[in-house]
Amino acid sequence: MNKQGEQIIINGETFVPLLNEYEIQKRVRELGEEISRDYRGKVPVFIGVLNGAFIFMSDLLKNVDIECEIDFFKLSSYGDSKISSGNVKLLKELNCDVNDRDIIIVEDIVDTGLSIKYIGDLFSKHTPKSMKVASLLVKPESLKYDVKIDYIGFRIPSQFVIGYGLDYQQKYRNLSSIYVLSE
Ligand code: IMP
Repeated sequence: MNKQGEQIIINGETFVPLLNEYEIQKRVRELGEEISRDYRGKVPVFIGVLNGAFIFMSDLLKNVDIECEIDFFKLSSYGDSKISSGNVKLLKELNCDVNDRDIIIVEDIVDTGLSIKYIGDLFSKHTPKSMKVASLLVKPESLKYDVKIDYIGFRIPSQFVIGYGLDYQQKYRNLSSIYVLSE
């Protein structure tokens, strides 16, 4: 990885720090505590959206102190691009039965809102008792669909970001901070 001081250079493009590890961990802890309070006495199923949500899901769950279950499903990603293709495909189905369960969808980032809309439509075919969405990041100015995000980590500008689960050409998910493409 071509790191120059605080910056990361990828194919001649410069990414600069947006959120550091400390800020992310602090906010994730707050979200975990909030969800624990809201679901006290219930046993929700956290459903992570692969691949991007795997780190957020893991850190979030470590801060949830109620009984819960987890599952994952996988949607097609941006591929090699930095912008949404406008298409979503289901690549891995859920294994658990969500009928009559309280489910919390865990996303890394909501950009246009298409993925969350797709997920909402998918779950409307099942009959969960309740469904909420937690997303670490939301780009409010990019939203094109009317979607409700119940737990938001950070609202960020409509710029491409990497790290903490978020990829560029499937790489850089392992960075513990989040970096933004410098304009
Ligand atoms: P949406 O369907 O347009 O809301 O986009 C959601 C998905 O696009 C996320 O789960 C990510 O996989 C991907 N995505 C959106 N913005 C970014 C970004 O800035 N960096 C990396 N992936 C992104």
